[in-house]
Amino acid sequence: MANISGNRDLFGSKFGIIAAAAGSAIGLGNIWRFPYVLGQNGGAAFLLLYLFFIFAIGIPVLLSEFVIGRHSQSNPYQAFKTLKPGKKWYLIGVMGIAAAFMISAFYGAAAGWTIEYLVKAVTNQFAGSSPVQFENEFYNFRDSSLRAVLWQVLFMILTASIVLAGVKKGIEKYTKILMPLLLVIIIVLNIKALSLPGAGEGLKFLFQPDFSKITTRTILDALGQAFFSLSIGMGTLITYGSYISKKDNLANSAVIVSMADTAIAILAGIAIFPAVFAFNIAPGAGEGLVFITLPNIFQQMTGGYFFSVLFFLLLTVAALTSSISIMEVVVAFMVENLNMTRTNATIFTTIGISYLGTLCAMSWGGFKDFQIGQFNFFSLLDFTSSSILLPLGGMFIALFVGWFFPKKHVIEELTNRGELKAGYQRIFFFLLKFVAPWAIALVFLRGVGFLNF
Ligand code: TRP
Repeated sequence: MANISGNRDLFGSKFGIIAAAAGSAIGLGNIWRFPYVLGQNGGAAFLLLYLFFIFAIGIPVLLSEFVIGRHSQSNPYQAFKTLKPGKKWYLIGVMGIAAAFMISAFYGAAAGWTIEYLVKAVTNQFAGSSPVQFENEFYNFRDSSLRAVLWQVLFMILTASIVLAGVKKGIEKYTKILMPLLLVIIIVLNIKALSLPGAGEGLKFLFQPDFSKITTRTILDALGQAFFSLSIGMGTLITYGSYISKKDNLANSAVIVSMADTAIAILAGIAIFPAVFAFNIAPGAGEGLVFITLPNIFQQMTGGYFFSVLFFLLLTVAALTSSISIMEVVVAFMVENLNMTRTNATIFTTIGISYLGTLCAMSWGGFKDFQIGQFNFFSLLDFTSSSILLPLGGMFIALFVGWFFPKKHVIEELTNRGELKAGYQRIFFFLLKFVAPWAIALVFLRGVGFLNF
């Protein structure tokens, strides 16, 4: 087996791991998913819940994944087999692989929409449309299937070609420069959005909580979004943790990545909601929210052409660096446990994901007859993976590191075998043992009433 310590393709530098993990975390989840889920869940109250989940559950689970990965030096499935032989913990890995397929599929479809908008930006199609026209354009495109399918397949091929090149060469290189650039452009968008007439309304929606809007679904969605955005709960960061050098400070990296991820989500909200209100778009418009809102801003901005091209290009890249981190979970498992070559594993995975992704891309078009309750195929995969499988995975990861894994080993990883101080350990263990798993369980128990299909 290839998972002998020292033999792995490691990240090159401290900044490398932060760049790679941030590349995984920052993606469509922050800029596409966060605003639309927040919009559907009534705004600021959702934001508060989300922030609570990031700090009390997300960061401890993220750090736990790093600990498990670096300690076991393997993919999530093998990691639990190595750490607890003969026990059922490896099922977390199995669940993670299932989640990876589902997330990749709808993620690829949404990334396909992003590519469509990149093309629109390049060919200068935003000029001169009204807000209503932008809305119709998005729905027409989404419902017409074919291009959405092609872009999705193209996106999966791009993902696969980077995964094939291997973790280190593939992932680090892109994120180091492009993520900071994405931040800059979102800040430019913020400035413009805040100067729009009616911007205050959007800020109120985002920051002034109305607790009567909190429902069981809101809590579940906030928890799911926190997990989705941080890339936790399915082993992505166990896999990346196994590529981290023994000298890196895991806690430090975990906190920096989480903060950067959260900041980008909030900044995306500040770009989008003022414009939502200024242009009279429904905050609960759903999956199309970013694509309907931002073209309105670009169209009114000096340099709008340039910024729109740059924005959709960077968003595509951000989606790619996230998508490779999802596919890598499956590929690492196939290479290490099924003895496949990296090439075969990547091809096999790409075909499987593209098939599911095609159905996702057609969920409003040729495949729209597939409906289970309120869900079409796309939203079914999204909800099942993000709001169910990820929190469930996170609950077991927290239980594992909090209660079942020898504390000595955890501390070894946190302190790099005694070289670093880890003054935060007590709060870390407290959150892992007594807060995270039970809070997740509670959210689920309430959720059961809601999940009546
Ligand atoms: N976090 C990424 C985003 O916000 C998506 C992502 C990458 C992900 N890897 C993941 C989500 C693992 C869940 C699990 O776009």
